[in-house]
Amino acid sequence: MSQKTQAEMKVGITGVGMHVPEKILTNKDFEKIVDTSDEWIVERTGIRERHVVEPGTPASALGAPAALQALEMAKVDPMEIGVIIVPTVTPDMLFPSTACIIQEKIGAKNAWAFDILGACSGFTYSLGLADSLIRSGAHDTVLVIGAEIMTSIADYTDRNTCILFGDMAAAVVVQRLRDDLDGFLAWENGADGSGAKYLYMKGGGSLHPATHETVDAKMHYLWQDGKAVYKVAVEGMARISERVLEKAGLTGEDVDLFIPHQANLRIMDYTRRKLKIPPEKMMVTIDRYGNTTSATIPGALRVAYDEGKLHEGDTLLFATFGAGFTFGGVVVKWTPAGGYKTPA
Ligand code: COA
Repeated sequence: MSQKTQAEMKVGITGVGMHVPEKILTNKDFEKIVDTSDEWIVERTGIRERHVVEPGTPASALGAPAALQALEMAKVDPMEIGVIIVPTVTPDMLFPSTACIIQEKIGAKNAWAFDILGACSGFTYSLGLADSLIRSGAHDTVLVIGAEIMTSIADYTDRNTCILFGDMAAAVVVQRLRDDLDGFLAWENGADGSGAKYLYMKGGGSLHPATHETVDAKMHYLWQDGKAVYKVAVEGMARISERVLEKAGLTGEDVDLFIPHQANLRIMDYTRRKLKIPPEKMMVTIDRYGNTTSATIPGALRVAYDEGKLHEGDTLLFATFGAGFTFGGVVVKWTPAGGYKTPA
């Protein structure tokens, strides 16, 4: 470890990548699957379409190309990666980790690799871990890949949930930065386990190992009490955003681009208004991709980059809320691709 103290050390995002399958399911398509309408879905959620895989496609199949795109932007060779973290609720299998499978696919032979389960907050949880691993002096380069095949756990007979989700993987390269650059200004994550009963997938774990009965009872599908989750999410996302901004010594008015988790446009708008962020400074991708759980924020970050919405030094705010309950916020300055320099 160099002479820099942990607080002085600059850590940030130097590359971002995203990968979605080609196939698209529109709201009109859903009208043929469940009793719903394009009007209801748009008005209540903001979703118009979502990308979906062919059945049998694993999370790693989207995760590997997303990771390679992020590495290309950061000008980082896979062999330079110290750690791979994959937040996911839809791993290829329970073990080995999807992170290990992606490590092999991209040739990151020097990395240790593990999955975490933070649900929709998996990305902010992972950024907190990545920042800490670098500030500890253990590593210079961490790869975070949110990889989700939400269609693999969606019940296509339940109109309350199946219309909400899409498939996506998106990755960021987190690195120690040159001293003249700013990266993470603050992050904060939290959990409230009393919310576990409102959003879950009960089957397939040690409580309910897979049996014919658990499958017949549809326990291998995601279930949520949407109304209950909505009520907590709407206040929870605003609260964590305010807390992390305060930690960074900023207010919503200092934010150049707000990238919230995209579960429901009404939750996003409520949070934005509470923070006094104008609509043009909030990234909206839910219309095109639906809720893609831990891939959502890095995916929206890549879309923002492709649309020319990111400028060097911009202050970005990420905010999440999800199953657990889990929540998280990150304030980070946007750094140019390849801005990293190996410390002496
Ligand atoms: N099409 C048509 N009608 C539908 C429908 C659909 N796809 N889904 C539900 N409905 C119906 C319900 O059956 C209900 O009918 P009823 O009054 O006859 O029982 C009615 O619409 C209202 O349902 P409700 O659940 O109150 O809708 P809502 O406005 O709360 O919207 C969600 C539902 C899921 C979109 C919303 O609750 C939500 O976004 N929740 C939070 C999600 C979240 O943040 N999750 C955490 C991260 S994953």
